[in-house]
Amino acid sequence: MIQGAIPLKIAGVGYSVPETVITNDDLTKLYDTSDEWIYSRTGIKERRMVSGNQDAVDLGYEAAKKAIANSGIDVQDIDLIIAASSAPPRLYPTIGCLMQAKLGIKRQIPAFDITAACTGLIYALSIAKAYIACGLYKNILLVATDNNSRLLDWKDRSISILFGDAAGAMVVTASDDGVDDVIALDIRSDGYIGDMIEYPLPGQNCPLVKPCDERESKITMNGKEVYKFAARTVPQFVSEMVEKAGLKAEDIDYLVPHQANLRIIQAIQERLGYTDEQVVVNIEKYGNTSAASIPLALAESVEQGKLKLGSTAILCGFGAGMTYGGAIVRLRKGIC
Ligand code: ACO
Repeated sequence: MIQGAIPLKIAGVGYSVPETVITNDDLTKLYDTSDEWIYSRTGIKERRMVSGNQDAVDLGYEAAKKAIANSGIDVQDIDLIIAASSAPPRLYPTIGCLMQAKLGIKRQIPAFDITAACTGLIYALSIAKAYIACGLYKNILLVATDNNSRLLDWKDRSISILFGDAAGAMVVTASDDGVDDVIALDIRSDGYIGDMIEYPLPGQNCPLVKPCDERESKITMNGKEVYKFAARTVPQFVSEMVEKAGLKAEDIDYLVPHQANLRIIQAIQERLGYTDEQVVVNIEKYGNTSAASIPLALAESVEQGKLKLGSTAILCGFGAGMTYGGAIVRLRKGIC
């Protein structure tokens, strides 16, 4: 830790999922697939989906309210909002700005969005850590919310089976007892392989200049290569992070991985030598909820008593970019 840096406390977490459940069997109405094919390759049985005008801001708002209530902090004392999303409903106003208004925060605090795909929460936590450490902000709301279902090509059975919609939130504050809840944190990216997962926005369309080559706005993914990248890079990265922190895997109680594919989660679990009870897995019910995946898994497992507080956990994510990152955190009693 930097000399004189202010430690960070994870004060509260919360999550929200839409009501509508779409099962693997439901997807057979769209294309030739089966529950057996999807479940055996991904570990997914069903996912939640927004409907009508509901979007990632609504989901984020519900998750944020719970995280704030659990933190015990007055909403008016929040002095920064960072939202992370791969699929914001608008480029502007940002989710962060909309969240400030929805929460009724009266002061004109800063609010902004970041995009680091499924690693979004870890990236947002790293920014919050730096701001708190230097004393610039004290009470920061992190909201990770995604609604990828609206960007998918619903004729493409290899990608649209994977994603679900959800939100997770975390309130972090300047710690007043000298204990830092972020024991270690590391974020990375490999832009050289960014074309593995893409969602292009419309290109140049001004009739006065050469137009952009035609491209479709939809998520494309080389699933096999993403799988190989994640299964190769993430377990190695996580064990190096643990080692660099001067720890052994057995010093940390739980693993809360990004829920992209059960087989990738199992590869990380195997490398670290964790038991099934130590690894948080909810992909069966929610699919891959992108930026929301880690805080959803964390908050839900605490709420259900599967993850006992007063413990430590490795949060680890990877996603489009390609980005990846991890944090070893202390989970105090009362955060959920
Ligand atoms: N149902 C039935 N058959 C299917 C389906 C489906 N839903 N999808 C593909 N197939 C067929 C294909 O047509 C192909 O048939 P063929 O051999 O006759 O041509 C066969 O199954 C194999 O297709 P692949 O695409 O090669 O399937 P693969 O074994 O790679 O599995 C999967 C696909 C599950 C997507 C896998 O690659 C994977 O999990 N990758 C990782 C994805 C991931 O984690 N992404 C998110 C990370 S980051 C982020 O969220 C931004």
